[in-house]
Amino acid sequence: MNRHLISSADLTRADAVRILDTADELARISDRPIKKLPTLRGRTVVNLFYEDSTRTRISFEAAAKRLSADVINFSAKGSSVAKGESLKDTALTLEAMGADAVVIRHSASGAPHRLAEWVRGSVLNAGDGSHEHPTQALLDAFTIRRRFGRDSGSAAAAESGGGLDGLRVTIVGDILHSRVARSNVWLLHTLGADVTLVAPPTLLPLAVGTWPCSVSYDLDAALPKSDVVMMLRVQRERMSAAYFPSVREYSRRYGLDAARVAQLPERAIVMHPGPMNRGVEIAAGVADSPRSTVVEQVANGVSVRMAVLYLLLGGAEERA
Ligand code: CP
Repeated sequence: MNRHLISSADLTRADAVRILDTADELARISDRPIKKLPTLRGRTVVNLFYEDSTRTRISFEAAAKRLSADVINFSAKGSSVAKGESLKDTALTLEAMGADAVVIRHSASGAPHRLAEWVRGSVLNAGDGSHEHPTQALLDAFTIRRRFGRDSGSAAAAESGGGLDGLRVTIVGDILHSRVARSNVWLLHTLGADVTLVAPPTLLPLAVGTWPCSVSYDLDAALPKSDVVMMLRVQRERMSAAYFPSVREYSRRYGLDAARVAQLPERAIVMHPGPMNRGVEIAAGVADSPRSTVVEQVANGVSVRMAVLYLLLGGAEERA
């Protein structure tokens, strides 16, 4: 495995399956009364967040603590960033404090890549602009594997080599601004799933034709052929123009309500990375239904981030 985790596209199928299998083992340990492992004792993990986060920040902190690492949480708000300090100088300050891993979320696509040039420790991308969010894609793949009985040790895993071969995943909504969509397309493709993106033409990136997936503008046509439907938030904070006539019109054409869920195959699941706009891209009743994996995704995020920290830092001595 690479020293850093910056893009899903950097993961081979063997890397991805290894992370997911390790997360399965760590999830089993998390079910025990004593959840903590001594694996990263003496290591320091810095969470460097330049953008708001609830799920990712908290689960990286929980994951590092369960592995007994020392954790430093840095939020740009209230720091010397407000006085104009650059990312590089902030990174060098953290380096001087002995960071073994830096988890970074930043509004600029490419910030984790730059950071990796300045620090000796591992860099983990916790979301950069509209570029990538690889640990979200890994926790989504982990959730799909579990819901379809393909987790490690299962008969289906033995048959498929731990991948998602043949599963049909439809990702719906604001693909243009979504780092989750981009990371998921690459990872799900690597794991053997068939991915379809559904969005209004204005919310698809120009380069989507080069991505390993199909594209449709018609949600109702895609739903009966979907094992997984992943709804995305409309990221109005990243929009500088009008991309659709009105929220009501968007919701009518691309929102997932009970009538649309009825078009899904019986075993199909509904995913959302959060935060959700209930009543816009997903109806409240759908978000809270048994098909929804929203809460599982959050819980699985801790096991998956433990696995990534364990493999990047625990394996560091082997590489040296
Ligand atoms: N899914 C996700 O990245 O959520 P947060 O923005 O709350 O971290």
